[in-house]
Amino acid sequence: MKPVRVGICGLGTVGGGTFNVLTRNADEIARRAGRPIVIEQVAHRRPNPACDLTGINTTNDIFAVASNPNVDVVVELIGGYDVARDLVLTAIENGKHVVTANKALIAVHGNEIFKAAHKKGVIVAFEAAVAGGIPVIKSLREGLGANRISWVAGIINGTGNYILTHMRDEGRTFEDVLAEAQALGYAEADPTFDVEGIDAAHKLTILASLAYGVPLQFDKAYTEGISRVTAEDVEQADNLGYIIKHLGISKRTDHGLELRVHPTLIPKERLLANVHGVKNAIAVMGDAVGPTLYYGAGAGAEPTASAVVADLLDVARDISTEHRYRTPYLAFSGVDGDCDSL
Ligand code: HSE
Repeated sequence: MKPVRVGICGLGTVGGGTFNVLTRNADEIARRAGRPIVIEQVAHRRPNPACDLTGINTTNDIFAVASNPNVDVVVELIGGYDVARDLVLTAIENGKHVVTANKALIAVHGNEIFKAAHKKGVIVAFEAAVAGGIPVIKSLREGLGANRISWVAGIINGTGNYILTHMRDEGRTFEDVLAEAQALGYAEADPTFDVEGIDAAHKLTILASLAYGVPLQFDKAYTEGISRVTAEDVEQADNLGYIIKHLGISKRTDHGLELRVHPTLIPKERLLANVHGVKNAIAVMGDAVGPTLYYGAGAGAEPTASAVVADLLDVARDISTEHRYRTPYLAFSGVDGDCDSL
């Protein structure tokens, strides 16, 4: 079967993770997708020591990827607003599908991007934009599709949760733990986005759009970060039986939708109070299903790559004319396959 040819733009933390997961698990991924997913080209500004690019077609021009006739899917992992928007719109204009991990891009320019993609009949997938490796976008869009959602609430910034966790558990300073989160590749290029709640507001905007079926409205989100949370606040909360967590909350109210991100006191015994380190957790309330909870790594190279590659699998299946590739076990075992032989 014809391979799906991927052009990766950006070889930082997530780009490097995506390159390595796609390379390492190529056989497994090909069986699930029903065809190989191959890296056709990589655009990067500087080498990533975690990646072996031997034999790979590389360029330092991301727009060369968007116009490469041998690329079927452009994977946008450069981050930021404006250049990423131009890149994605160019790729769409050239008839390419797009996979992105860029929450800022989707939250702010998503309405325009989706309109362009619709016009061209291409897919724009963004599972990795929210909560790293947790498949919460697919859950909201697919698994919970039958429900009227009344609220979504969760810890959706791994860096912020990492900072709050280590301040509380180890009595370390905000600055010290932030530096560690940056070294581990969790933080945004501009960590203000993490600690001032902007990153969480981007993600909440995306979740709310999917949960309630409304356009993306980033400017409507109340945004407050954790930069003013002190060691004394953490200690006082602890003495009173609470843990401070940074939450993104959206809900239906009598006055319309509410979107807000801010530090919150949570009783220690609650599930969300026990989500530690870089982990994220999102609770969603649906009228049919009741409360549901999604938990896992919210940032980092391979957890985020896991979501990027899942989107590539979706694209491969969506453009496939063979139904069996939409049913992973049939893809593995063949239409007449036997589960016991797996
Ligand atoms: N800086 C983000 C976070 C990366 O810490 O959650 C993942 O979106």
